[in-house]
Amino acid sequence: MGQTRNILSAKDRKRLLLAARKAMKHAYAPYSHFRVGAALLTAKGKIVSGCNVENASYGLSNCAERTAIFAAIAEAGPALEIRAVAVVNDQGVPCSPCGACRQVIYEFGPNATVVFQGSTGWKERHIAELLPEGFRLK
Ligand code: THU
Repeated sequence: MGQTRNILSAKDRKRLLLAARKAMKHAYAPYSHFRVGAALLTAKGKIVSGCNVENASYGLSNCAERTAIFAAIAEAGPALEIRAVAVVNDQGVPCSPCGACRQVIYEFGPNATVVFQGSTGWKERHIAELLPEGFRLK
């Protein structure tokens, strides 16, 4: 298992943040009023984005990160490899991927670089720093 974090160029980071902001505007968040956007950079160099989609049965809500990952697979198939993922929100507050999303990111990007707003500003972290000992079946 590789430990090296995928390199994310300044240009790609900018493209990811832009795509995440665009997707954020599509969020369906009438319950939390917290709009989130996420964008992935795949190993093929494609950018795929997603937003959070909430539900009156709150627990069924889907985070922006998982929406993006599921959309990427629906679009291009199960061989998805995530190089990087960026997360933004409409309130400019710290927002790192939740535990469930960390595990889903890890499934398709064990060396993914994750860009998010932390408590002291923007952070870029290896997924394994956010999810030590991520679960794998193979
Ligand atoms: N949310 C995301 O979409 N991504 C995150 O990284 C954190 C939380 C969403 C879920 C829910 O719709 C709203 O933010 C409030 O928790």
